[in-house]
Amino acid sequence: MPCYSSLESWPNRAADLPATALLNSVLLGDPDAFEVVEAINAHMRNADGSLNSVDVALAKEQWRTLKAAYQKIGVRTSVLAAKSGLQDSCFTANPTMTLPLPNGDTHVWLARMAHPSRKAESEMHREFFQAAEFEIKQLPEEVERFEGCGDAVLHPGRFLIHGGVGPRTDQRAWMALASAYSELDILTYELVDERFYHLDTALAPLNQNYALYVPEAFTDEGCQLLRAAFPNALALPLEESLRFAANAHCPDGKHVLIEEECRTTCALLEEHGFKPVPVPTSEFRKSGGSVFCLKQSY
Ligand code: ARG
Repeated sequence: MPCYSSLESWPNRAADLPATALLNSVLLGDPDAFEVVEAINAHMRNADGSLNSVDVALAKEQWRTLKAAYQKIGVRTSVLAAKSGLQDSCFTANPTMTLPLPNGDTHVWLARMAHPSRKAESEMHREFFQAAEFEIKQLPEEVERFEGCGDAVLHPGRFLIHGGVGPRTDQRAWMALASAYSELDILTYELVDERFYHLDTALAPLNQNYALYVPEAFTDEGCQLLRAAFPNALALPLEESLRFAANAHCPDGKHVLIEEECRTTCALLEEHGFKPVPVPTSEFRKSGGSVFCLKQSY
């Protein structure tokens, strides 16, 4: 199937596409090697231009809180061991994309990381998912950049990917993935604001109809497309978008794990019948990520 970047060109709606399962396990990355050593996104420097400094003990405590929050709502957790020199390996959303198929299998696509400092992480994921007996898939050579579930935001329960095109993933990745599955639809969105550099910083699906999104991150065409895919898309206030409100994760259509300093968004979620689970992620935000980036579902 082709990729679609505008509402006029997309012949389907989410409900027309084959059903897929919701994934109920997450792979988390031990933050033992977590640090900010180079600025590879717009969030990693202070106002004075110096690199953010991370409170490592606090980061570990926040990560343990996140892990416990998943377990409390019935999501299974596994942990990828840290490796020295791989300071971003706690952001497990990026080195792979797990893709549940209509037949019940899940394929694991290896990323092609944009920055040299993160390339070795895909190998760690390959080892983990191979040992867990998943089928591993690799993109063709011509794809330059593909950062897994950082830019591949899966539509809950449908064979549909929302794909970011920007600094971390190029259009060719979506073309290659679209040609690998005849029943899959891919909707692509150009990311136009460098603060929202991965699609998962700008769009958080909640269920088949609801999502949180950041209007500033998209073109008008992109906003129109995503509002057609999620008829109840809720626009976020910029102040909380910059605290990664749209990097929330709703694994079960009900509970929404979200950065705790996003109170307006939590109230909005409650108003629409969701259960916000606020968690502290201040130290990971200093590296440009929050809840959604810190897990790979499988
Ligand atoms: N410092 C990491 C990077 O720039 C943060 C990754 C956040 N991940 C995400 N899925 N948004 O690559």
